[in-house]
Amino acid sequence: MSAAIHRIRLAGGDLEFACAEGDTLLRAAQRAGLGFPYECNVGSCGNCKFELVDGEVADAWPQAPGLSDKDRQRKRHLGCQSQPQGDCQVKLRTMERYVPLHRPQRAAAVLQAVRALTHDISEFRFQVEAPFAFEPGQYALVWLPGVEGPRAYSMSNIADAAGAGGGCDFQVRRLNAGAGSAALFALQPGSRVEIDGPYGMAWLRRDAPRDILCLAGGSGLAPMVSIARGAMAEARLADRQLHFIYGGRTAADICGQDLLQALPGYGTRLHYSAFVSNAADDSAAYPVGFVHEAALQAHGERLREMEIYFAGPPAMANAVQAMLLAAGVPPDQQHFDQFY
Ligand SMILES: Cc1cc2nc3c(=O)[nH]c(=O)nc-3n(C[C@H](O)[C@H](O)[C@H](O)COP(=O)(O)OP(=O)(O)OC[C@H]3O[C@@H](n4cnc5c(N)ncnc54)[C@H](O)[C@@H]3O)c2cc1C
Ligand code: FES
Repeated sequence: MSAAIHRIRLAGGDLEFACAEGDTLLRAAQRAGLGFPYECNVGSCGNCKFELVDGEVADAWPQAPGLSDKDRQRKRHLGCQSQPQGDCQVKLRTMERYVPLHRPQRAAAVLQAVRALTHDISEFRFQVEAPFAFEPGQYALVWLPGVEGPRAYSMSNIADAAGAGGGCDFQVRRLNAGAGSAALFALQPGSRVEIDGPYGMAWLRRDAPRDILCLAGGSGLAPMVSIARGAMAEARLADRQLHFIYGGRTAADICGQDLLQALPGYGTRLHYSAFVSNAADDSAAYPVGFVHEAALQAHGERLREMEIYFAGPPAMANAVQAMLLAAGVPPDQQHFDQFY
């Protein structure tokens, strides 16, 4: 029996789209090519709020932190958590910048291989059982066995325009108390999961006529590696320099250089440097400092002429954003999807 399809109508216009039973409003709108605003896709940021005018939705995660009690009283819901229970009418403002470059789809994927990059970051190579197209820097949702809700992981590889290869690599940090990372690290090659994507706004701007700066901290490695791989393979960016700065707590956390060394242009137009934030780290293998300070020190006023991508823990991303604001970097040259 095929899943029921609900009709979702946008208030104040003629637009409507189909949402399959069990799908969320946000993802169904994206599958239909509509620019439904969002960021995290996992209930945390609140960017996908909408007002329910008519009909009924179920909340996949009623306690999601992206929604306040006031929002709930005002009949506001999160698009990424709302599963329509029938036809609905909703109030929201679609935006051109959220129109998907590749319409997301959900498909099964098989784990092919796992390899450790550091003591707590491993790379997971999946084969999606359907073409899987995405832009460098985007992410996918993964449903893991025994875990409530999907987890968002960024791809570290690149795909061709049609996504024909179906390859999907994630670089994930193991968290001691994390349900998702525990389930992912317990998977064995051959295990099957459900993947939905691509999503995300921090994709490589191939037409931007500027040098590129990639700033990564900890688990933010994957999308920045994907951006670097995409940029080095892009003929339109052949005369651009790419500077990659990675930050970890101690020398044992530093990674990524070998992945970039394998790319054409390493050392001439692709440059890597790494910093440790823990001043007590006396290995002397890497200079002590934070990524945002290192970027400012290395590039100063030139930051305003760069296309800047960054990813990592919230504290790092907030510090980078504050530094870029103070340095006068135009917002449309800054690209990041907040990690939660
Ligand atoms: C856009 C984006 C890209 C990311 N890319 C990467 C990456 O490349 N590598 C990496 O290591 N990490 C990445 N993360 C972080 C990753 O998604 C996880 O948050 C992190 O690994 C911790 O997950 P956990 O399950 O181990 O921890 P937990 O504490 O168990 O889970 C935290 C996450 O799960 C969600 N969540 C918790 N409970 C529920 C529930 N009941 N229903 C639905 N959702 C729930 C939360 O919103 C939160 O995102 C990314 C996050 C985002 C938003
Ligand atoms: S809360 Fe829905 S996209 Fe972040």
